[in-house]
Amino acid sequence: MAIANRKIGYDEVEHRDLDFGMNPETVPRHWFNNDPWATHWMNAILAAVPDGERWVMQATSKQLNNLKDPSVRKAAISFIRQERTHAREHDAMNEAMVAHGIPMDRVEAVFKVVRRTLQRYLGDVTQCAMAATFEHFTAVIAQVMLDHPEQWDDTRPEVSAMLFWHFVEETEHKSVSFDVFQDVSGGGVRAYAIRMATLAVGAAVFLPLVHGNWLYFLWKDRQLTNIPSALRAFKLLYFSPGIFTKAFVIDLLPFLSPFFHPWDTDNRDVIHAWKRAFEDTGDTLKAYAALREWHEGNRNDAPAQQEAAA
Ligand SMILES: [Fe+2]
Ligand SMILES: [Fe+2]
Repeated sequence: MAIANRKIGYDEVEHRDLDFGMNPETVPRHWFNNDPWATHWMNAILAAVPDGERWVMQATSKQLNNLKDPSVRKAAISFIRQERTHAREHDAMNEAMVAHGIPMDRVEAVFKVVRRTLQRYLGDVTQCAMAATFEHFTAVIAQVMLDHPEQWDDTRPEVSAMLFWHFVEETEHKSVSFDVFQDVSGGGVRAYAIRMATLAVGAAVFLPLVHGNWLYFLWKDRQLTNIPSALRAFKLLYFSPGIFTKAFVIDLLPFLSPFFHPWDTDNRDVIHAWKRAFEDTGDTLKAYAALREWHEGNRNDAPAQQEAAA
């Protein structure tokens, strides 16, 4: 399975050097649907994003001259360029939150200490496995968002456009870190054991940190007792569409298989809707709108197709 799926996405990986001009005016304090609990859950993840992306870039860059497969090397170079731009744009978004009084900078400093410690003790190939694990989680979160853009109905389009550009590119390159790790590790039982060990370390370190930081941001924002917002966030994260449940429970299961490959789930249709519109217009707002229209079209077509089949 892994070999057959390996190159599905390589032609998709395209670097777009976009500047979204994120600032405190474009990014409101409760930017995700005007909802404090949901916003701070996202902030708790996004606090780790710029430094995490620079880590996966460094881990991949170190291996460029060791890669045996030239097509993996080519995709890895585009992947590094994409992540560099993501890190820059998320730095700007995190700075906007700091300007609103949300201490993303303090949390980022903690993540940097954790990252430096892990870098010191983990070998270069193991860091590639860690990158593959992180990229799996970002790809699954991106997939849930791409499949449920209606969850963004009350978010400013400028913010949604930036995040959906990132979700599209995370999907484009979702196999690259995995294939880099397979290439440099040689695959097999040992590589599988390393991948599972990095999953255990990553989950043990980052899941408590993200949840602790979520509560920290809510406390600093005086929103801990905002019960209606808490209930909405629990529904969003654990039930419908269940972002957390899907990313960290349901879609974790295939990742546990020794035969897993990121493109076993081929979700290119949705990103192609975005990419067609972006190629035509060069406008991420229009590309985001096109993605939403594509979903609307599918929803309207589904009953007609069921009728025709009956
Ligand atoms: Fe990224
Ligand atoms: Fe990524």
